[in-house]
Amino acid sequence: MTQFSALQRSATELFPQETTDREAASARRSLQTPGSIRFFDYRPTPADVRAEVLEGLGLPAKRLSPKLFYDQRGSQLFDAITELPEYYPTRTEIGILREYGSQMADLLGRDNVLIELGSGSSLKIQTLLAALQPSVYMPVDISKEHLLESAHALAERFPDLSIRAACADYSAPFKLPLEPDWTDLAAFFPGSSIGNFDPEEARRLLGRVAGLLGAGGRLLIGVDLPKDPAILNAAYDDAQGITAAFNLNLLTRINRELDGHFDPNAFRHRAFFNIERSRVEMHLVSRIEQQVEVAGERFDFRAGETIHTENSYKYGIDTFHRLAGAAGFVAEKVWTDEQGLFSVHCLRVGEERSGS
Ligand SMILES: C[S@@+](CC[C@H](N)C(=O)[O-])C[C@H]1O[C@@H](n2cnc3c(N)ncnc32)[C@H](O)[C@@H]1O
Repeated sequence: MTQFSALQRSATELFPQETTDREAASARRSLQTPGSIRFFDYRPTPADVRAEVLEGLGLPAKRLSPKLFYDQRGSQLFDAITELPEYYPTRTEIGILREYGSQMADLLGRDNVLIELGSGSSLKIQTLLAALQPSVYMPVDISKEHLLESAHALAERFPDLSIRAACADYSAPFKLPLEPDWTDLAAFFPGSSIGNFDPEEARRLLGRVAGLLGAGGRLLIGVDLPKDPAILNAAYDDAQGITAAFNLNLLTRINRELDGHFDPNAFRHRAFFNIERSRVEMHLVSRIEQQVEVAGERFDFRAGETIHTENSYKYGIDTFHRLAGAAGFVAEKVWTDEQGLFSVHCLRVGEERSGS
């Protein structure tokens, strides 16, 4: 298991050069919280983000990672998406967690260190906290401001909960603020975020989680199921245009953070279910032939050319079990809703993962 010593730094040390007043104020608020929250910043550097964006826009089929959606505005837009009538995953997964929470706690174990990957607003975990009673809750998210705000809201609601929030990118090997004597770890990975990775990347990420948990460790993971394409197309292209705004916000973020010159009005949102690959794809489609400068580099777009911004793979239960098995997990139990829209799996790290 990877272990890291705790970092205790002041707000200014946490947010060096690129600190804004708002960030610093937010960080100070976090450090003022009495006792229950500690914050650890392992987020990618601006140089990493720049390199990734320039590489993705330079590909013959332009592509950007969905993790780039989540600046503060992107996180707020995602929260708005979860409340849309068309967006069934959030309410369905919460329904499953509410109904089977005590069974889940029996399997996951109580009083352990509970790591949540891509915790966002930390809403779903609230349905499980009473049953799980973790000794420490560790929300992990790439969206720093949103993570801090969510951790605060949680601490106000659950003042006895010990929270260690970590801003980190789980799409590559990542650090967590674990103590050497914390051996009883469990993980929660809701929202079908695993579906944002191509299957081989998903296997690698699950393998990293298995290595982190160690043999016998449990992962509770939400996975969206294949279904009628009409339901999927509506869920990712809602009538109010919130998902479109979420997708287009990526261009605004690039303009702000990377000296980009995108005109968001010159692009449109497109989402569709790719049946052969069992995934919803989201793209930004260039409405016109245009050239766009980002960080001093020029990119050409044909009319109709797209930037592929997200995949959301849908896995049947057996297919997901095979994927998890290839990553070192043994499937213990799966719960679904009555309509068969969504699944939540409890996976255990197999013995052969010991020491990895
Ligand atoms: C689809 S939202 C799900 C949020 C919440 N877990 C839920 O189920 O509603 C994905 C969350 O993961 C975070 N995220 C996305 N990519 C990430 C990455 N590579 N590393 C860490 N967090 C990431 C986002 O900031 C966001 O909060």
